[in-house]
Amino acid sequence: MVASWGNWRPRLAYKFSVEDSIYIDKDAVGKGAGKALLPALIEQCTALGKRQMVAVIGDSAQTPSIKLHASCGFEMVGTLKNIGFKFGRWLDSVLMQRELGTGGVEPPLA
Ligand SMILES: CC(C)(COP(=O)(O)OP(=O)(O)OC[C@H]1O[C@@H](n2cnc3c(N)ncnc32)[C@H](O)[C@@H]1OP(=O)(O)O)[C@@H](O)C(=O)NCCC(=O)NCCS
Repeated sequence: MVASWGNWRPRLAYKFSVEDSIYIDKDAVGKGAGKALLPALIEQCTALGKRQMVAVIGDSAQTPSIKLHASCGFEMVGTLKNIGFKFGRWLDSVLMQRELGTGGVEPPLA
C-alpha cells in the first residue's frame, strides 16, 4: 500500500500545493484502507503548511478513487479528455481538489 504526496508543480509559486497518490494492494481494495490512509495524508500535508491537495485520477471510470476522494472532502474540478493512451485506448484524467487548513483565505506562512 502506498499513500504519498508530491509537489503539484516544480515552480516556486506552487510550493503550497500538492498532489496525492494512493494505491491499495489488490487483495485489500474496498475494505476501507483508502479511507484510513487518505485522511492521514491530508493531516500530514496540512501540518506541513500545504494549502491545496489535488488528485489526478487516471480515468473517468475510476469510481472507487473518485468516491474515496469525494468522501474525504475533494470536489470535482474538471476532466482532461483523452489525455493519455494506454492499452490501446485514450484515457481521461479527472481532477479533484481539496483545501488544506485555511486554503486560499489567507497568505501562506513562509
Ligand atoms: C482507489 C483506491 C485507492 C481506493 O481505496 P480502497 O481502500 O479500495 O477504498 P475504500 O474501501 O477506502 O473505499 C473508498 C470509497 O470507494 C468506494 N469503493 C471502493 N471500492 C469500490 C468499487 N469497487 N466500486 C465502487 N465503489 C467502491 C467505497 O464504497 C467508498 O465510498 P464511500 O466513501 O462513498 O463509502 C484503491 O481501490 C486502489 O488503490 N485502486 C487502484 C489504484 C488507483 O486507482 N489509485 C488511485 C490513483 S488517484
